Amino acid sequence: MEKLYRKLLDGNREWVAKKLSEDPAFFKRLAKGQSPPLLWIGCSDSRVPANEIINARPGEVFVHRNIANMVVHADMNMLSVLDFAVQLLKVKHVIVCGHYGCGGILAAMSNRQHGLIDNWLRNIKDVYRLHQQELDKIKDKKKKSRRLVELNVIEQVLNLCKTSTIQNAWKERNYPHIHGWVYDIANGVIKDLEVSVKNNTDMSAIYRFDI
Ligand code: CO
Repeated sequence: MEKLYRKLLDGNREWVAKKLSEDPAFFKRLAKGQSPPLLWIGCSDSRVPANEIINARPGEVFVHRNIANMVVHADMNMLSVLDFAVQLLKVKHVIVCGHYGCGGILAAMSNRQHGLIDNWLRNIKDVYRLHQQELDKIKDKKKKSRRLVELNVIEQVLNLCKTSTIQNAWKERNYPHIHGWVYDIANGVIKDLEVSVKNNTDMSAIYRFDI
């Protein structure tokens, strides 16, 4: 166990040396500040590292991750990250990225208890209920879970659009654009769900703030 812990710090020293050999000004430049054009909302799953799968360098992506890439309207952590990224960093794009084989989605589809996390997974069960007609028709469990992964991303994109943070930014500067993606851990490829939103005109009226 101690060996694993040491390996992390050794890994850091190796990484620093590699970065400096490629670009001696790398850390000096990053220390000056950040202006990433992108906010990433993804799953905490260790197999979906935000920067790495889109080949982005440090400084290019502002990241928020939680179990099953949720946008829960009472989550102060997510709201703070969103507000900072949109109002201060003025990101151009917000991407919600789910992934096939998501443990959170699979757990939410079962009727077993998983402990405290069931309160978080409840939000995914709500997504299931919203799309129950479509999902109940899919008999193959794997196909059903893959579709729920996609529908969950779509609902989280909509949840972002419902926030005053996003709607105020649209009013002020017509961005950020909100996108929904799904990453396939089996082949590394990202699927664009093509549900991008850049204004509130098509939103259900009850969620629309006057702009
Ligand atoms: Co996941």
